[in-house]
Amino acid sequence: MIEVQEVSYSYSGKYNVLEHVNLNFHKGNLYAILGPSGCGKTTLLSLIGGLDNPSEGKILYEGKDISEYGLGRHRQEQAAFIFQGYNLIEYMTVKENVELTAKLSPEESLSKVNLGEEFWNRNVLKLSGGQQQRVAIARAIASDKPILLADEPTGNLDEESAKDIVELLKRSAHEEGRCVIMVTHSSELAEHADEIYTFDKNDGVV
Ligand SMILES: Nc1ncnc2c1ncn2[C@@H]1O[C@H](COP(=O)(O)OP(=O)(O)OP(=O)(O)O)[C@@H](O)[C@H]1O
Ligand SMILES: [Mg+2]
Repeated sequence: MIEVQEVSYSYSGKYNVLEHVNLNFHKGNLYAILGPSGCGKTTLLSLIGGLDNPSEGKILYEGKDISEYGLGRHRQEQAAFIFQGYNLIEYMTVKENVELTAKLSPEESLSKVNLGEEFWNRNVLKLSGGQQQRVAIARAIASDKPILLADEPTGNLDEESAKDIVELLKRSAHEEGRCVIMVTHSSELAEHADEIYTFDKNDGVV
């Protein structure tokens, strides 16, 4: 479904972050990407999400090169991001945040992530980190895109909440058929994924 082919990337044309990375990601699976800080995990996720073109190589989604398809179109139709910092709109309520990009029912998505109705009309700043992360996931699920990219979605959470979040992502992959790619520093959490890709310190090669 997503094919990363011989992808290299360098910032400002000099510093090589990724070198000839080859990876496949299938729909209906949760993937964990592990690796030391600075090895290029976020960079790879950004490329898969169409934030930039690789310096070399290509990324195919359902057989089509996303650069040719159009990165803007790819982002709009195909890839949803969940960042560690949530990226919620701070002056809006929970429900408004999810509604923003929703194609599916916001209420249903919020129920899926186990965020009770009593929170829906609350400003997102008045939620705990774990609750905010649930909103971010609900928003991504409601946007109904086939690719879900989560960059350290459990970074700020306690062990129990982190496990819950990973289970949610896994369910979204298994039950809704999405391709979910999660970057994490926790090898224990990564064990919950269907497949683990471990990056090397120097060149991003797995
Ligand atoms: N905009 C940028 N310009 C120049 N170099 C960058 C830029 N963004 C990241 N880098 C460098 O590229 C390398 C890979 O960064 P990246 O953010 O992909 O790492 P990461 O694996 O996600 O690390 P972490 O686990 O700390 O989040 C790092 O050495 C970083 O300093
Ligand atoms: Mg990162």
